[in-house]
Amino acid sequence: MIIAIDGPAASGKGTLGKRLADHFGLEHLDTGLLYRAVARVLLDQGTPLTDRDAATVAAENLDVSHLDDPRLRGAEMGEAASVVSAYQPVRDALLAFQRQFGVQEPGAVLDGRDIGTVVCPQADVKLFITASAEERARRRHRELLNRGEETDYETILRDIRRRDERDINRSTAPLKAAEDALTLDTTHLDADETFQAALVLVEGRIPRNQDLASR
Ligand code: CDP
Ligand code: CDP
Repeated sequence: MIIAIDGPAASGKGTLGKRLADHFGLEHLDTGLLYRAVARVLLDQGTPLTDRDAATVAAENLDVSHLDDPRLRGAEMGEAASVVSAYQPVRDALLAFQRQFGVQEPGAVLDGRDIGTVVCPQADVKLFITASAEERARRRHRELLNRGEETDYETILRDIRRRDERDINRSTAPLKAAEDALTLDTTHLDADETFQAALVLVEGRIPRNQDLASR
């Protein structure tokens, strides 16, 4: 059983992914953390993010056992991740791990930008989670303030818009809904309401894919 969740920055993919995974007893992978971790290696080395070869080496040798490092979730890492994620060899290097994660038993929830289109095109359910840029900036602002990160709303909104533009317009694995994805606009939904709405969508797909709980 694979649930693929894609969508733009701070739309609530990770939060929803974790809730769905807990609910159905599946494993969860926030694939953005992989790109953030590659970016962190370059930043720690003092290597410019424009160094495609260094980014590729970092992706090929990535230690995936430290994805829970809180530093990965900072605003600087998100921005840097969107630069290195545009390099095809970086994406190629991270693909096998993501695909392997997807096919484990009893199943997995993966969230990112290209899960339904590239990583797991065979996913049983594909969700595309959106919200207005202003609402996403409000969410990220709140989240970063709670983490104690110095930041302001206008800067976050600008970053989110720039990141959306970069993710949508890149030539390799651009952010877009898979043709068979179900789109959920969460602009006016909180995390609980989003989970409930997503549950209805996922369960609506189960008859075609058999009983989830029995897998
Ligand atoms: O949490 P947020 O949505 O802000 O970002 P993220 O999901 O952690 O992803 C950070 C960056 O990694 C994104 O802006 C994308 O450029 C890139 N990414 C990607 O290209 N493909 C994925 N499957 C996941 C993330
Ligand atoms: O993974 P992604 O970057 O798409 O977003 P996230 O990190 O899951 O969520 C960003 C913030 O929005 C978190 O603090 C969530 O609690 C909050 N949020 C949400 O996830 N879903 C909503 N419908 C409303 C708020």
